[in-house]
Amino acid sequence: MKIFTIDANDKNCAARTGTLLLPHGPVSTPAFMPVGTAGTVKAVDHDQLHQMGYRLILANTYHLFLRPGMDTIGSFGGLHTFSSWNHNILTDSGGYQIFSLAPFRKITDEGASFRSHLDGSRHLLTPERTVDIQVTIGSDIQMVLDVCTGPEIDHRAALEALTTTTTWAARARRRWEEQQEESGYAGALFGIVQGNFFPDLRTQAVQRTEELDFPGLALGGLSVGEPFSTYCDILAHTAPQLPREKPRYVMGIGTPEYILAAIEQGIDMFDCVFPTRAARTGTLFTTDGRINFKSARYARTMDSPDRQIDSFGGRQYSLGYLRHLTKSNEILGCMLAAQHNLRFMKWLVDQSARAIREGTFLSFKKDFLERYTEGTK
Ligand code: GUN
Repeated sequence: MKIFTIDANDKNCAARTGTLLLPHGPVSTPAFMPVGTAGTVKAVDHDQLHQMGYRLILANTYHLFLRPGMDTIGSFGGLHTFSSWNHNILTDSGGYQIFSLAPFRKITDEGASFRSHLDGSRHLLTPERTVDIQVTIGSDIQMVLDVCTGPEIDHRAALEALTTTTTWAARARRRWEEQQEESGYAGALFGIVQGNFFPDLRTQAVQRTEELDFPGLALGGLSVGEPFSTYCDILAHTAPQLPREKPRYVMGIGTPEYILAAIEQGIDMFDCVFPTRAARTGTLFTTDGRINFKSARYARTMDSPDRQIDSFGGRQYSLGYLRHLTKSNEILGCMLAAQHNLRFMKWLVDQSARAIREGTFLSFKKDFLERYTEGTK
């Protein structure tokens, strides 16, 4: 299954622009995917997402499986109909959420058993069942069940997690093929490259995952508490080993610094809760850096958050008003802040794409980060 075309390569680095060809329409890359864990991007409605230019959002198998459950989503014919989002959905498999959320978990050859963080109920996700669940959800891109590890583990444990991940990936791939034949499922399945922070294991993970010939590949186990320089080192080591012609996705990033570093290495897709979560707690991304808009210094600011960005789709709201809404716990405060941050992320990837086409991505990145980092201090 081929789902990706490369449209332009930057002359001076590995950055590229492309198009993902998915069941619910084409998606331009580099693409930031807003996170809609429970089938909703918090505080933003679908029409707004569409109007901002988003055509691919992320949802979480782990959460949807626990609530509302597959019977409910299946009875609607999938998440697109259930949620009335007519564009693409990528679902994460649950591997990472089990690792980060479940109060109890056990990895065996069979799969991952865990207790729900909602009610303590016990569940088992196998690689095959995880594919079936994502088929019921109707994911345009689904992810294999993987074992994600943090920076604290040793080489032996990282190898074990990598071996489990690739063994599960082979099982998931077989089940995905069966689903294509049996139910006509048209979504893609991406493999996930683990290997922790050991370059030799990352190399091994690329080889073992690529042998399975997925339509796209993700780098997992990054941005899990390691320093930014370690992230950059692993990225620079691993990304060039990924097949050029396939879409490449770094899971769970991030901030502008992380995303621009990934784009430079030829990564096409990223997702992160940070822009929407940070918005709800008083942080806005701007081209002049990150600001805490609850600060008293903005009480009388009549400007909107960023002169360069159309924060609210042609509508003007002042920082002073935004601060007041948030200080007063008004729901509109969360909505406007989330909207601004998502429009900022879209602006960032669109400007990156423009620069790549012009062959100037490196100078765009440098200029952007100089101003952004200076303002964030
Ligand atoms: N989200 C962020 N990192 C990861 C990862 O390593 N695996 C999965 N499945 N999801 C992620």
